[in-house]
Amino acid sequence: MAAHLLLLLYHHRPVTTVFFVLILLSTSYGDGDNKEYRACKKHFNCGVFSDLSYPFWGGDRPEFCGHKGFELKCEKDQLPIIATDQKLEFRLSLLHQPSRMMTLQLENPTDYICPTKSLAISNTPSDIHAFGYDLNLQNLNLLYSCTVSSSTPSTLQKNRISNCSGISFYGSDEFLENSGVLNHTQCSFIIKIPIPSASFDRLTGDRAELERVLAEKFNVSYKYDEGPSICDACMASRGICGANMSDPSREFLCLCRDHPYSFVCKGMIAKFILDLLPSFLSATFG
Ligand SMILES: *[C@@H]1O[C@H](CO)[C@@H](O)[C@H](O)[C@H]1NC(C)=O
Ligand SMILES: *[C@@H]1O[C@H](CO)[C@@H](O)[C@H](O)[C@H]1NC(C)=O
Ligand SMILES: *[C@@H]1O[C@H](CO)[C@@H](O)[C@H](O)[C@H]1NC(C)=O
Ligand SMILES: *[C@@H]1O[C@H](CO)[C@@H](O)[C@H](O)[C@H]1NC(C)=O
Repeated sequence: MAAHLLLLLYHHRPVTTVFFVLILLSTSYGDGDNKEYRACKKHFNCGVFSDLSYPFWGGDRPEFCGHKGFELKCEKDQLPIIATDQKLEFRLSLLHQPSRMMTLQLENPTDYICPTKSLAISNTPSDIHAFGYDLNLQNLNLLYSCTVSSSTPSTLQKNRISNCSGISFYGSDEFLENSGVLNHTQCSFIIKIPIPSASFDRLTGDRAELERVLAEKFNVSYKYDEGPSICDACMASRGICGANMSDPSREFLCLCRDHPYSFVCKGMIAKFILDLLPSFLSATFG
């Protein structure tokens, strides 16, 4: 009966009918969707937060649904933990996804100041943009057990950390670059911790002040790309933002219903027509 009605309609309004049927069919197209697309379409819950989406991943959400620096460790009814690639852990205490704003607090801050035990952190930080491109953050470098010669510039002295055993310094990335003499060869380890730029002004090398600064909560705008958001462009093309797991640096990937694209979904309407027109025609005339 429905087929007869459609056939009748097709004789009078062929174009309208084709689109009508395409729309009907497209709503049941979900099962054929790309596997990653389907996995990432689901928002996820983590600790006390619900309905999380890109760039966050972790828990039961695979890495290809997120951005590399945004893995969350989830525990029931707890605030999630987010770790940098240097394995520093931050507690995520507030999150506002529409404005892409989160509030973080370093876990166990005193562990990083004049450490007496060895730290379970990587000594080779690779990502200067730990949390995207928030320009209000700057790395605080803590350099411990340094061997400095008598030719060490006296300008470095003001960046000494008082009361540490061993010669230790603190400073921004610029300080580290400009110091020239301080590097991994000279210091037994270097920790990079993102802090609000404004907090730098308060640092004097006083150990207690360092502890206070590292213990403070701070707001991060987790803008994960430079310039106009590539994720927004992907979403505008009805894609879901994700990561390319075959790429060593986990480059951005736009997950689309047919398959992933580098930036935006393409050709979806063309694909529907090519896929579905033959079956429509054979159902109608066959
Ligand atoms: C640092 O050392 C000075 C002198 O040795 C001492 O007076 C001060 O209390 C110490 N500060 C801390 C935070 O341990
Ligand atoms: C570290 O600095 C010393 C000079 O102070 C230099 O000879 C050495 O090559 C530097 N090492 C690295 C890895 O940059
Ligand atoms: C972070 O932002 C929130 C919301 O804008 C604000 O209420 C809070 O005081 C801020 N916290 C810090 C530590 O700046
Ligand atoms: C994913 O990364 C691999 C390796 O860099 C690359 O060859 C491939 O084209 C990327 N995929 C897309 C859809 O961009």
